[in-house]
Amino acid sequence: MESKPALAGKTVLLTGATSGIGWEASISFARMGARLIMIGRDAGKTAQKLEEVRQRSGSATVDSLLCDFSSQAQVRRLAEEFRARYDTLHVLVNNAGTVFPKRTVTSDGIESTFAVNYLGPFLLTNLLLDVLKASAPARVIIVSSSGHYGGTMDFSDLGFEHGYQIMRAYGRSKLAAVLFTRELAKRLEGTEVTVNALHPGAVATSIWDRAPAYTRPIFSLAKRLFMISPEAGAETIVYLATSPEVEGKTGLYFEKNRPRFPSRLAQDDAMAQQLWDQSARLVKLGA
Ligand SMILES: NC(=O)c1ccc[n+]([C@@H]2O[C@H](COP(=O)([O-])OP(=O)(O)OC[C@H]3O[C@@H](n4cnc5c(N)ncnc54)[C@H](OP(=O)(O)O)[C@@H]3O)[C@@H](O)[C@H]2O)c1
Repeated sequence: MESKPALAGKTVLLTGATSGIGWEASISFARMGARLIMIGRDAGKTAQKLEEVRQRSGSATVDSLLCDFSSQAQVRRLAEEFRARYDTLHVLVNNAGTVFPKRTVTSDGIESTFAVNYLGPFLLTNLLLDVLKASAPARVIIVSSSGHYGGTMDFSDLGFEHGYQIMRAYGRSKLAAVLFTRELAKRLEGTEVTVNALHPGAVATSIWDRAPAYTRPIFSLAKRLFMISPEAGAETIVYLATSPEVEGKTGLYFEKNRPRFPSRLAQDDAMAQQLWDQSARLVKLGA
């Protein structure tokens, strides 16, 4: 007798599904029978990637929605569109992420790295919490990075108005992602909704093409010499979404399918709470 695919009957929403790690995770989820909603930001690219996933997986239960995470209005619209079309959510993967060589600010007045990598996912997750709870057991997965180990937090200058550097901004956004994971896990105690963060490995994807021009030869060499493939980079996401080993585990940071201590700052509970409060104000949660 054939066994049921691991995600049969489960609704999975995956952001950053149109390239790199998220694209490979999309194919895996589709092959595992999920009702998958791929989130992309460009209509043409997303439609094309959706069709490719349908073809490569042979699954007819794959859809897509659009959202640019630099816009809070678009995040709110995504949550509304999702709720209008689907009534369950078993796995939410916040994977979309990027870097900005120069400091830019979104239409909401937020430094772009912080907005796309952390604040947009913070808002989306909060807007979908009731659906997750009603679908429990459910899992939230947040793609952070080992870059969070170098991340710092400064609540008086979250957006690096004074002294922007690409990796400092990236590190802060990924530290925020782990702090969010730990604080959300606390708030979800007793709900059977778990939340875990992960580092996917150093993965050869297009994220590195947005690094400053002078560093690109280094990344290009690193891609060939030691970075892992996007397919291998998707493994920890798929593991956290499907493995019975992580059932009930929450508030953890994973690398290579194993929990690992996050940075000292990421374990600071007071900082996690302060970040939550400030984030809730920045996205006007409850408004
Ligand atoms: N690659 C690594 O070594 C590495 C290491 C640690 C952590 N990570 C994390 O892994 C995640 C996936 O990155 P990747 O390496 O797969 O990079 P990637 O190939 O560049 O993919 C990033 C994905 O995020 C989407 N995205 C970027 N900005 C967006 C925005 N403003 N709104 C909505 N979607 C947006 C991209 O959409 P488009 O397809 O339209 O560009 C793409 O689908 C990120 O969170 C990254 O920080 C990666």
